[in-house]
Amino acid sequence: MKPYIYITRKLPEEVLRPLLDQYEVEMWEDENSSVPRDILLEKAQKASGILSMLSDTIDKELFEQSPNLKVVANLAVGYDNIDLAAANEKGASVCNTPDVLTDTTADLTFGLMMAAARRLIEADRYVREGKWKSWSPLLMAGMDIHHKTVGIIGMGSIGEAFAKRAKGFDMDILYHNRSRKPEAEETLGAKYADLDELLTQSDFVVCLAPLTPETKGLLQKEQFQRMKSSAVFVNAARGPIVNEDALYDALVNGDIAGAGLDVFEKEPIDEHHPLLSLKNVFALPHIGSSSVETRMEMMELCVSNIRAVLEGHIPNTLVNKD
Ligand code: GLV
Ligand code: GLV
Repeated sequence: MKPYIYITRKLPEEVLRPLLDQYEVEMWEDENSSVPRDILLEKAQKASGILSMLSDTIDKELFEQSPNLKVVANLAVGYDNIDLAAANEKGASVCNTPDVLTDTTADLTFGLMMAAARRLIEADRYVREGKWKSWSPLLMAGMDIHHKTVGIIGMGSIGEAFAKRAKGFDMDILYHNRSRKPEAEETLGAKYADLDELLTQSDFVVCLAPLTPETKGLLQKEQFQRMKSSAVFVNAARGPIVNEDALYDALVNGDIAGAGLDVFEKEPIDEHHPLLSLKNVFALPHIGSSSVETRMEMMELCVSNIRAVLEGHIPNTLVNKD
């Protein structure tokens, strides 16, 4: 019997081709929904490998019930949806998709910042709604990006790629990170700041940190109150880093000027989400790495990681190295 691989979302056939000779492969076929928990658990029970999405919870219960499971390849750089301790206990490898998505995600994050600053989405809506009756001097006047200060929370690869873009726009760059990044300081002129300093000095606060116990709930009411009232907050990392009620209040009270959000505390959100009632919020459906090229590369990386583990090799992008 061929080892069984379960893929929790429908992927293009061409991506699966390298697996089909040696493995039995099954996918969740509905493109518009994620696999229900009970089906995921049932499929995992016989799986040697799982190709998972960031929206799937791969927890202790799943690892304990899946005797053959050797590898979980997550189609994301973030892997906060996977219980690493449980994977280690089980001796299962966990893989992610770093690097291939770095520039693509930095592009989107920069776009989100620009769209929020220059009111691009609001302006598009204005035209579509037939409201554009005359040119006028302050019509949809936004905020400059160039020569402003951006504060990057989370200076990993994506943070650095974002900083590179910011440098091209003549921005002053502050960053906050667990560790110092001497190379980014040298080549990009990025300055290390503690969180409070970053929040008080930045015109744009951009979150690109992974979700960990240390970053969960990092931004609360006090943090938004420290920001400039003209500041724009951008989150392209993970929703739970932010207390969303506090963000909502900060936007309503004028503690900050606007927000561009690619991620939310509980995804997906619907049109009734309170943040969407605010004109100064721009929302995207978690599409940071979503260019066709990059998503294809991410899928291929997941497939090659699964093959590597099941064929006894060390996968390219292993998360639980110990
Ligand atoms: C997307 O959010 C990712 O972690 O790749
Ligand atoms: C981007 O989505 C990230 O996970 O940093």
